[in-house]
Amino acid sequence: MSNRLGDKLGELGSTYMTMEKYQDIIENFFENNFDEKFYCSQYSEEENEELAEDVLKLLDAKKESHILDWCGGWGRISIYFARKGYKVTILDRMQERLLRAKEMFKLEHLPLTTICSDCRNTPDTIDADYATCLFCSVGFFDDDEQIKAFRSVYNSLKKGGKFILDCLNLFFLVNKKFEDTKMKRRDGKTNIQRNEFDFSNNILHSYYKIVNEKWKAEEECEFFQKLYTPADIVRLLSASGFKIENIYGNYKGEPISFISTQIVVVGRK
Ligand SMILES: C[S@@+](CC[C@H](N)C(=O)[O-])C[C@H]1O[C@@H](n2cnc3c(N)ncnc32)[C@H](O)[C@@H]1O
Repeated sequence: MSNRLGDKLGELGSTYMTMEKYQDIIENFFENNFDEKFYCSQYSEEENEELAEDVLKLLDAKKESHILDWCGGWGRISIYFARKGYKVTILDRMQERLLRAKEMFKLEHLPLTTICSDCRNTPDTIDADYATCLFCSVGFFDDDEQIKAFRSVYNSLKKGGKFILDCLNLFFLVNKKFEDTKMKRRDGKTNIQRNEFDFSNNILHSYYKIVNEKWKAEEECEFFQKLYTPADIVRLLSASGFKIENIYGNYKGEPISFISTQIVVVGRK
């Protein structure tokens, strides 16, 4: 019996380091701008601005300070930081997104620094007052690589600097039925999502489809992401050097609970 259990754990052990093998799928998801097509496009300008305001409030960000928008894409949220007079640096792996950010900021004569880099290699010369990691931009790696990424953002901050991040709350999924979810889009089409969950490593496998009014699939994509409980994300941030200041259940600063969709954490260097 104990041998069989041993074999089972051995199998689990060998599959535990798995995010590595999904890197191409993750890259493909962002290169096809599926995060924008499926999720970001469903938020209005007002909602994006409100999120930016809430982030600044939770950070208690001092006027004119320097914010690193880590995995910041095309500056969907950090353009509002710049409009309020903050100095913004965006780091992202996709040059195309950074060029788009540059165009957007330039149109409004707002200064912007961009860094095209993998987030595990954030330059330690940035010397930012704050760093943000918005819209579930964690869980693309196994834990050791995620710690490496957090450690590099830690090193890019000034002493006393703060880091705020969000991710999906794994506890929130406990009562969810894993069947197709359908959501009507602002453009009249429908988003369909199907999920599978790997309990051996907390990896969510999602299949996405955008269907038109005639229910014909226009685009499809898949994605893998590692999910965390609040304690998991605290452990990874602490292992990277951060002192945890607060854990919330959303950007309004409400308490975290089993039913919070999100985990929002503020850590300090
Ligand atoms: C979910 S999007 C969020 C973008 C932005 N924070 C927002 O709220 O609009 C995640 C971003 O992380 C970037 N990304 C993914 N993997 C990365 C990596 N290994 N290094 C740097 N950026 C990465 C993607 O290109 C994408 O822009």
